[in-house]
Amino acid sequence: MSLPTSLAAPAAESVRDFATDVRRDLALVPKQIQSKYLYDGLGSTLFEAICRLPWYRITRAEARLLSTFAPQIVSAFSEPLTLVELGCGSGEKLAMLAEVLRARRRHVAVHLIDISPVALELSERTLGRLQHVSVVGHRATYEEGLRHAAAQRVGDSAMLVLFLGSNLGNFDPPAAHDFLSRIRGSLRAGDALLLGADLVKPESDLLLAYDDPLGVTAAFNKNLLVRMNSELLADFDLELFDHRAVWNARESRVEMHLVSRADQVVSIPRAETSVRFAPGEPIWTESSYKYTPEDVIQRGRLAGFLSLDQWVDSRARFALTLFSAD
Ligand SMILES: C[S@@+](CC[C@H](N)C(=O)[O-])C[C@H]1O[C@@H](n2cnc3c(N)ncnc32)[C@H](O)[C@@H]1O
Repeated sequence: MSLPTSLAAPAAESVRDFATDVRRDLALVPKQIQSKYLYDGLGSTLFEAICRLPWYRITRAEARLLSTFAPQIVSAFSEPLTLVELGCGSGEKLAMLAEVLRARRRHVAVHLIDISPVALELSERTLGRLQHVSVVGHRATYEEGLRHAAAQRVGDSAMLVLFLGSNLGNFDPPAAHDFLSRIRGSLRAGDALLLGADLVKPESDLLLAYDDPLGVTAAFNKNLLVRMNSELLADFDLELFDHRAVWNARESRVEMHLVSRADQVVSIPRAETSVRFAPGEPIWTESSYKYTPEDVIQRGRLAGFLSLDQWVDSRARFALTLFSAD
């Protein structure tokens, strides 16, 4: 019996990359781990649970906007259309656009890009239910996946790239600019980018979204330690780290940390390192930058896009912006 991809052991090369990054980033001051490593099989499953929490409003706000404006969004394109989602997660939002195309009897090619095998399996299942859709999954980073999808574009079809869920907020501003510019560079006239971005809102709302009363986000964050224990043979004691979310108003970002409760040394054999933690010392595991609607438009323009339209969910403070590559 073969296991589903999401339950199989990670490939040796991805463990090697993880080990190299952990060794380098835990030697930084402050210590860090890249947020993409939050999404192993369990991490993706916990993220799906986070999306259902009443305090994490991003997913529902974006879905509300899509359910209202998807017809308008797809109308901006002539056929045929290729949809590419970077960091697709469950693929449910992409399916909302694809459904509109079904109603209009238009066939659509879909490329799903995600580093997480669980996310890819989920999204392939979600999109696989739609008969007018042909799906290609790429287990890859955003950049690699976009390169593959662009190389497989059929004829003169227009490409709509989706970067939803405020994934952009995980990049610091210079990296976000580079990344948007790279997306722009792989598109041509007639293509577009649909960007979902979370907006600045009261600090209490932001903190509840990243430190929920059920402790699901804490489990999502601490799962990084579980992942290092299992893939890198580390000996992190989960009881000796706390989840912490803080709003950094100056930088306009929520930061997630794992904070050491004690003076301790952790051994990480596959990363060929041992790391000392002082009491109260954090590992910075994720940034989630928050924007204003104008900020989002400006960032797209600076990366070479033309802004076509923007829709704002005023309840949850979330913006969906359509940019053209013309
Ligand atoms: C915050 S979730 C959002 C999922 C989905 N877009 C949504 O809006 O609900 C981020 C997704 O991007 C994936 N991801 C994170 N970093 C990535 C990277 N560097 N390359 C490819 N996928 C990545 C994760 O595995 C996860 O499925």
